[in-house]
Amino acid sequence: MAKVKVGIVGLGRLGRQHAENLAFRIPNCELLAVCSVIQEEAEQAQKEWGIKYAYTNYDEMLQNKELDAIFIASPSGFHCEQIEKALNAGFHVFSEKPLGLYLEEALRVQEVVNNHRDQVFMIGFMRRYDKSYAYAKKKIEEGKIGEPVLIRCYGLDPSKAINGFMQFAKNNYSGGLFLDMAIHDLDLARWYLSSEAKQVWAIGGAYAHPEFEQLNDAETGTALVKFENNKMGIFVAGRNCAHGYHIETEIIGTNGTLRIGTTPEKNMVTVFDDTGAVNECAEGFLERFEQAYLSEAEEFISCIRENRQPSVTVEDGVLSTALGYACKDSFETGELVTVQSPYKALPSSI
Ligand code: NAI
Repeated sequence: MAKVKVGIVGLGRLGRQHAENLAFRIPNCELLAVCSVIQEEAEQAQKEWGIKYAYTNYDEMLQNKELDAIFIASPSGFHCEQIEKALNAGFHVFSEKPLGLYLEEALRVQEVVNNHRDQVFMIGFMRRYDKSYAYAKKKIEEGKIGEPVLIRCYGLDPSKAINGFMQFAKNNYSGGLFLDMAIHDLDLARWYLSSEAKQVWAIGGAYAHPEFEQLNDAETGTALVKFENNKMGIFVAGRNCAHGYHIETEIIGTNGTLRIGTTPEKNMVTVFDDTGAVNECAEGFLERFEQAYLSEAEEFISCIRENRQPSVTVEDGVLSTALGYACKDSFETGELVTVQSPYKALPSSI
């Protein structure tokens, strides 16, 4: 196959990073089209990167039959509709997380994906493609820590980025702390524990930033999750981390423990000065997961060229959405929530 020709929708905080990867860092890929509802964004990207087509209308981009694949980095509320349209128009599709903001739409997308098995579909759980997270998975599979029984995760956005985040949250309904932020950790928990959630209790609040209350969202929150086989998950998520972008994961097994990112270091440099010995922290997701964003996009393009599906599936998208939704539900109602299988009472085709 010649180069895979891709069109991307969404050119915001993350979309630009994906676009640059697709345009310049993946040899078997050509970024042929960019799309954003903001005309200046689309025109700027076209000019800056020399892209053949720029659109302000997604449906128009889907008319372009020179394209092979669509990369979706638009706000979360648009993912399901845009995935469905792109698959039905015959394209391979990558979509940013979360798959959907509601279980019903996520399940509908799964059905559409299953009806287009000859097209590649990939959901953007990029941490699975981060070298450290992938290495930890390998260690678990090798039995290095015995049976994993507990996962403890911190997913904290830097307080420095709060203004940018408020803009994102106000303009585009994000789904809230658990569906937007904790969802990466919820997916990792399912992946590492090889187990699905049964019960959730989530709490949280607006502490430094009362404006989160107006959004009916938590600025900082935590969820305690009981998984199948009595496995455990503790999830801390927040938007107000003073020292930087803190993504930390611990997996405790019957025979050992793995920790990833215990100190969220920027790099291997320690600065010794009159404040002490300082390991600076990563400032945001683009810095911490630069390699993972590139690796997941490379995998998407390879899957298309090699006519195979990625290991992260649409079902992972649905089940993580179900768990994220249960956390949101528990946070909003203050109740212990039983996580229902989203596949209950559904037609056998799903
Ligand atoms: P953003 O708000 O910075 O950018 C959104 C972009 O989509 C803008 O270019 C906007 O003009 C465009 N847009 C909005 N509505 C559109 C529509 N109907 N059709 C076409 N374009 C439209 O958002 P950000 O932070 O880049 O997030 C985008 C997606 O990426 C979200 O779903 C978010 O959850 C996800 N994300 C994932 C991360 C990860 O680590 N995997 C990190 C950050 C975001």
